[in-house]
Amino acid sequence: MAEQRRSSVPTGRLLGLALLLAAPAVAVLIALVLLGHLGIVAAVAAGLSIILLTGAMVRPIVADLLDAATYLRADLDEDRTPPEARYSETARDVASAATFLRQRAGLRVTAAEARAESHAALLDCLPGPLLLIDQTRQVVRSNPAAETLLGRAVTDRPLASVLRDPQVLAAVDAALDDGKHSELQIILSGPIERNFEVLVEPLTNAALADGARVLVQLHDITALVRTEQMRADFVANASHELRTPLTSVLGFIETLRGPARDDQDAHDRFLAIMFQQATRMKRLIEDLLSLSRIELREHTPPTGRADLRRILSQVAEGLQIQAEDKGVHVVLDIPVKLPAVIGDADELTQVFQNLMSNAIKYGRRDTAVTVSVERVGRGPAAMPHATRIDAVVVHVQDGGDGIAKEHLPRLTERFYRVDTARSRELGGTGLGLAIVKHIVNRHRGALTIDSTVGQGSTFSVYLPPAPGPLKGSLQDE
Ligand SMILES: Nc1ncnc2c1ncn2[C@@H]1O[C@H](COP(=O)(O)OP(=O)(O)OP(=O)(O)O)[C@@H](O)[C@H]1O
Ligand SMILES: [Mg+2]
Repeated sequence: MAEQRRSSVPTGRLLGLALLLAAPAVAVLIALVLLGHLGIVAAVAAGLSIILLTGAMVRPIVADLLDAATYLRADLDEDRTPPEARYSETARDVASAATFLRQRAGLRVTAAEARAESHAALLDCLPGPLLLIDQTRQVVRSNPAAETLLGRAVTDRPLASVLRDPQVLAAVDAALDDGKHSELQIILSGPIERNFEVLVEPLTNAALADGARVLVQLHDITALVRTEQMRADFVANASHELRTPLTSVLGFIETLRGPARDDQDAHDRFLAIMFQQATRMKRLIEDLLSLSRIELREHTPPTGRADLRRILSQVAEGLQIQAEDKGVHVVLDIPVKLPAVIGDADELTQVFQNLMSNAIKYGRRDTAVTVSVERVGRGPAAMPHATRIDAVVVHVQDGGDGIAKEHLPRLTERFYRVDTARSRELGGTGLGLAIVKHIVNRHRGALTIDSTVGQGSTFSVYLPPAPGPLKGSLQDE
């Protein structure tokens, strides 16, 4: 604690005070001189003595008061010794009042600083990007989320150079000029385009630090916008897929009721087409229902054990006729010793039914489709962490035309087809791989697609093995 130097009392001020305090005594001396009771020389000597003595007496008291004033005026950051008034009760009161005031002010400043720090920490913790703008449209504060989104040095830069969106700038102007609150949506371009909802809020509290006048808050709504887009696309796609066969069926009904009423040949031909179209609609609805059922259960993984050998053999047998028609030879390459997998046999049948049917459908005439199974020490990154160590993988490899790279990431989207006309012609709904993906997700596995244009594709399904001893031949348990 810094020892406070004793305040020096300016002579002029001391003299003024002594004159003031000695004034009544001096007035009495003048009166005595005027009445002739006192000689002028004695009166002057007495008056000077009174003034000097008064000055000497009040000097330490004035020094105490000045000490208290200096103590009060000192910066709160300075560590000061409280003043000690020794010569007068009143000066002591003033000194103790000064000590009390300074200590209370110190406590208040400490509390305000702690509050400001906690507000700053709170701003920093907020996950959404946030900017505080002053009257000159300068960013006076930002949180780490804003810095991550908009680039390192955001603070102390003009808003226009940080967020170059004319809508946002206009909204900030409106907040500054008219105190107007705005909500708007913007798109921030970059390697990945992102959608944001921006809230622009005027700050009416004039006591805000840093001169902040407007709060700009950004909420990332990219996922929401995409989901909404997907929902709209899904409804449009599903209606379109249903409308095409439905229109065809209605057209044939019209023809059968009208021009072809008595044409038996046309009846047979048209009914066959109507049957085919109605079957297509039925398949589409079944696939959609199947997809929504799987989605509903996706968060509860299966707990049973499934025998891959049995499933793959049954699926291959079921596709025998389709394969023969195409001259495709299905080869099963399954090791004798293989653990069962954790899975739902019906759902896994659906997975391999889809993949093997695709391999035959999109494979070239007179080629082979090879289905091989192996156990690997580590699943791919797409597999959940908990099931990644140790996996059983089924590869379905075809000798088709392959799929160009740009299609691969979108292949498992509903209704996505590389060649829509060809898929429809082959009776496809474009939902097969979407169903596969959701079933594999539910099994906490992974689906990878490897394809070379002109050579063929390999779809690999990774699944977690079931605990327990290896069986010579796999059985459903
Ligand atoms: N083995 C493959 N080789 C080449 N392209 C494929 C292969 N498997 C799938 N595709 C492409 O991926 C698209 C989506 O496949 P998906 O199984 O989801 O639908 P689909 O086969 O058209 O219809 P569905 O399976 O409902 O009958 C197909 O339309 C096709 O373009
Ligand atoms: Mg398919």
